[in-house]
Amino acid sequence: MALLSVGQVIRDTYTVERLLGRGAFAEVYRVEHRYLGRQAMKVFRQEGMSAEQVRDALGEAMLLSRLGHPNIVRVFEANTVEADSGVHAYFTMEYVNGGTLTGFRLSFGEAFVPIPVAVDVMRQVARGLAVAHRESPPIVHRDITPQNILVGYDRDGPRARISDFGLARKVSALTLLASSQGTIAFMAPETLLHPHLASVPGDVWALGAVFYLLLTDEFPYPRRAAGDPITAAWDTTALVPPNQVRYAVDDLLNAIIVRALSFDTATRYPSAAEMLADLEAWPARPNPPHQDRPRHVPPQDPPPADTGSTGTEHADTGRDSRRADTPRTDRPRQRGREPGPAGEIAAGKNTGG
Ligand SMILES: Nc1ncnc2c1ncn2[C@@H]1O[C@H](COP(=O)(O)OP(=O)(O)OP(=O)(O)O)[C@@H](O)[C@H]1O
Ligand SMILES: [Mg+2]
Repeated sequence: MALLSVGQVIRDTYTVERLLGRGAFAEVYRVEHRYLGRQAMKVFRQEGMSAEQVRDALGEAMLLSRLGHPNIVRVFEANTVEADSGVHAYFTMEYVNGGTLTGFRLSFGEAFVPIPVAVDVMRQVARGLAVAHRESPPIVHRDITPQNILVGYDRDGPRARISDFGLARKVSALTLLASSQGTIAFMAPETLLHPHLASVPGDVWALGAVFYLLLTDEFPYPRRAAGDPITAAWDTTALVPPNQVRYAVDDLLNAIIVRALSFDTATRYPSAAEMLADLEAWPARPNPPHQDRPRHVPPQDPPPADTGSTGTEHADTGRDSRRADTPRTDRPRQRGREPGPAGEIAAGKNTGG
């Protein structure tokens, strides 16, 4: 059951407009601020959390928010609301009209996301993350997943914003566990073994995993993604390079992803800034168009249907049906449209099992 209801007024300031989606530990609503217009409100499901606890958890997100970076979701305020189920903490943030990166990827239907579009989005995410990593001490996101990357649209095209900075680490051990259930595919081996040690190279791994998925519609290391955290942490199956899944991925992009997804942190990019530098250098040279064809690969073992470990991200990847590349002029089917709550929830990882 939803924590808030449509039309409900909170603290004489916010009117609830609709449910945007549910995550592992919270519900997110679109609200109308009495003076400031549309915002998003994240309400924690755990009853009895104080506003102070949430403000503490938001420390790093607030700090980054003050930098006003175009690729980081701005956070406004935190407080509590009295719902039927008790007192719940919430915070408000900028509302992103578009949806998550999962929805963005799936909006291309049977086609792959065009490579220049995927690179553009990943550069934006890397820019936001690089700013956080450059702080002293570095701010670690800790839960970079397609669900925590929101994609809106402005005049220049898609604009990606990173949400939930540092939140997974701060909220509670229980939350961390619940959250990691859906995000094993994006967690570095060392993070899986020591989930409480947030690290900059861990964020780099996640960035690499998101990029791999965006380009190929497959998870890197699919066997890890389908397993439990400990098995996944020790799985050393070699990475299938992205250009073996999608021919059009050139050597530079291939090398960037392979380096981001190195098991060994000494080989991996030390932070998002170095990965961004390589992304900014793309394209090294244009690809001949005939290369933009998917390779015919035998379908891999699908993940067990009942694990639920990475939720609908798995179910929606279309692993068995190879997609044809689209010309650069292709547009996502839902460009500029705001997906309804059902669509967003369906694309969310926590409804799949
Ligand atoms: N600022 C925002 N603007 C618009 N929609 C948002 C915003 N923040 C979140 N959402 C929507 O709400 C959904 C739920 O977000 P939430 O952060 O609670 O869960 P999640 O990111 O899917 O998983 P996790 O619990 O691991 O963070 C998102 O998937 C997204 O669709
Ligand atoms: Mg989130």
